[in-house]
Amino acid sequence: MASNALNPFFSGINIPDKYFCDRVSETKSILETLENGSNIVMKSPRRIGKSSLIKHIFSQKEVKKKYNTFFVDVFGTKSMDDFTREFGREFMRSSSAKRLSGRKGLLRMMQNPYAQINVSPDGALSGFRVGLDGGVSPVVSLPKIMETLEKSRKPNIVAFDEFQTIQEYPEKAAAILRGYIQQMNNTRFIFAGSSRHMLNRMFEQYNEPFYHSSSSFNLGLISVDAYVQYCREMFELFRKQIDSEAVSFVYELFSGITYDMQKVMHETFFLTRRKGIATISTVKDALAEILSSYDQDFRAAFDQLQNQREKNLLVYVALQGQASGLTSAATLKRFNLDNASAVQNALKHLCSDESNLLVKFGKASYKLNDKFFELWIADQYGILESKYNAALSQFKGDPE
Ligand SMILES: Nc1ncnc2c1ncn2[C@@H]1O[C@H](COP(=O)(O)OP(=O)(O)OP(=O)(O)O)[C@@H](O)[C@H]1O
Ligand SMILES: [Mg+2]
Repeated sequence: MASNALNPFFSGINIPDKYFCDRVSETKSILETLENGSNIVMKSPRRIGKSSLIKHIFSQKEVKKKYNTFFVDVFGTKSMDDFTREFGREFMRSSSAKRLSGRKGLLRMMQNPYAQINVSPDGALSGFRVGLDGGVSPVVSLPKIMETLEKSRKPNIVAFDEFQTIQEYPEKAAAILRGYIQQMNNTRFIFAGSSRHMLNRMFEQYNEPFYHSSSSFNLGLISVDAYVQYCREMFELFRKQIDSEAVSFVYELFSGITYDMQKVMHETFFLTRRKGIATISTVKDALAEILSSYDQDFRAAFDQLQNQREKNLLVYVALQGQASGLTSAATLKRFNLDNASAVQNALKHLCSDESNLLVKFGKASYKLNDKFFELWIADQYGILESKYNAALSQFKGDPE
């Protein structure tokens, strides 16, 4: 049986170059923008490949040679303190930091008391209060990090991933950070995030602190042609093959979402013998494995729903793939849904951060956030095969 350790379809965001798919023009364009002295706001829907792309760019030989790079994951931080700690940790970890300040300098910084930033109600910086950090890990203050970056011989690129998170802090974080970032000449920033709406508000509304301070970069899907070629090459590296139409089937079924496709390809690769050829049928076997591995989780998520109305709605949207007109009289009647405002509330809850099962798009259309959950529900209702057929007819129906 094939070993998982020898699988070119990686999960996680640190993907060796050899197994990384495309993104050639994106890498070039992002580097050119940074080179021109602009910061970048990188946006895309969830799970397309923002974080992996930044890591990929940072791992390029010429980038390593030219820049010090820092990748700060802001996700899960709740305050400026958390942010500073996360930034400090990456700063200390990075080999760039060691080069920047030397061992002695680093030790001095680690012993530095932690500077807390005071902000006046209008968001302006009003000075620093210095106190001792109570945390276990060493903390470098934000001014110290920025100051060291500015003094470095090589220019720096700092990426803040899931940057929209700072909007949730109790402090006026955008104003604080802008105060620093505006003054920095030796450091370029990449602000990446998925929450399009929030990022847009931060960077495009004129009264917000980051207004027009950065170039916008919308990361699109990997093209179907590039993905087909990539998958075929990955299989061939291990003396296996995959039919182009099996890859197109996955692309169509998952609407080009990188995370989902890579998960299916990982399993498809695993199920393909050395010298064997993966087909659409292998992909379906891989999907069956994946859906059954999620069985407990999806069952639990379904059981946790507040009431039958929410369950009915979720099933309805899953079976449809995407649905609109959910509060129309005909839909209410057909699915035993009582009244429009109760349905509105249920939809709101299903889309909320807490539940996160549905996503709203367009005016009032909905789809499941997780395509695997949609397929699992379809399987429970015996229509999985017809979902597969719909995806197949999409690209087979193409006269080309
Ligand atoms: N170019 C690529 N080649 C190979 N795999 C990739 C590529 N881009 C992304 N992936 C895979 O897809 C998954 C999702 O990518 P990533 O986490 O970078 O997306 P994201 O847009 O940052 O997602 P999120 O919105 O969840 O933060 C990763 O697990 C990664 O392994
Ligand atoms: Mg990410």
